Amino acid sequence: MKSIYDSYPLNNGVQNPCIGFGTFKAADGQSTEILKTAIDAGYRYFDTASFYDTEESLGKAIKEKNIPREELFLTSKAWKTEMGYSEVKQALAQSLEKLQTDYLDLYLIHWPIPEEGYADWKQLDIDTWKGMEELYREGKVKAIGVSNFLPHHIENLLRNCEVKPAVNQIEFHPGYTQEMTVQYCQERGILVQAWSPIGRSALLNNPMLLEIAGHYQVSVAQLCIRYAVQRGIVPLPKSSAIERMRQNQDVFGFEISGEDMYRLGTLAQTGWSGLHPDGGSTRGTSKKLCLPTD
Ligand code: A2P
Repeated sequence: MKSIYDSYPLNNGVQNPCIGFGTFKAADGQSTEILKTAIDAGYRYFDTASFYDTEESLGKAIKEKNIPREELFLTSKAWKTEMGYSEVKQALAQSLEKLQTDYLDLYLIHWPIPEEGYADWKQLDIDTWKGMEELYREGKVKAIGVSNFLPHHIENLLRNCEVKPAVNQIEFHPGYTQEMTVQYCQERGILVQAWSPIGRSALLNNPMLLEIAGHYQVSVAQLCIRYAVQRGIVPLPKSSAIERMRQNQDVFGFEISGEDMYRLGTLAQTGWSGLHPDGGSTRGTSKKLCLPTD
């Protein structure tokens, strides 16, 4: 990968650019301006979701900047309340309307389980996925995938559905690398994408990361983004300022050594959001990911 416009082929041949722009919390009243700035900074790949409430402003920003649709890569996600065979179809129609487009490049199930303890999540995931498979066959979405799925959630789809997920988007950054899920996906040709690749302030002020970043004369944010790129993972950094938006694309002029990759990959748990797919929000606890038993 040499620039943000280089891409990975998904398992259905669609090209997924190697770095995108995350739009969660770009809201707060001025999201259209922030997203127009991101377009000015050069981003053409935007990751949104119905839950983020940024689809409408993204659609507006793209229209106002007059960017041809074929230059863009647009991802959105079906929220927990939009799961189900017919629900997901309605959800996509709404997302397309807000984004002012007639197709998505990628559509994801946002979380595997609608609420903690939901007993029949396996059937709900299958029903949702079958709706997504139809949207895919109709050409309304060029690829389909999942987000925040652990191996046992993906296994359920692989056993019961026809189209294999192309992508799994998970929280991933030094200090929370979810190795088991990454390995599971990469072995099966499922591209891993990273939300929160910079891990916010807990990482930005981490002494070890500052030391390693200093060695390469880059910022901690650039180091974290480069770390994902070198792992073959697609980072989706967010920022509200054009200089940091640009900085976050400038990650192709240095190479992290094998030893530093190892140090970054084994950093003690740092900067985890606290969101666990099976456990709702468990912020502040040390709940760990575990392998499926079924
Ligand atoms: P800001 O909007 O002020 O740039 P993540 O995507 O990992 O969740 O991190 C997002 C946070 O990281 C935002 O608060 C953003 O703040 C900050 N951020 C993004 N890029 C950089 C950067 N290059 N340097 C420092 N902070 C950054």
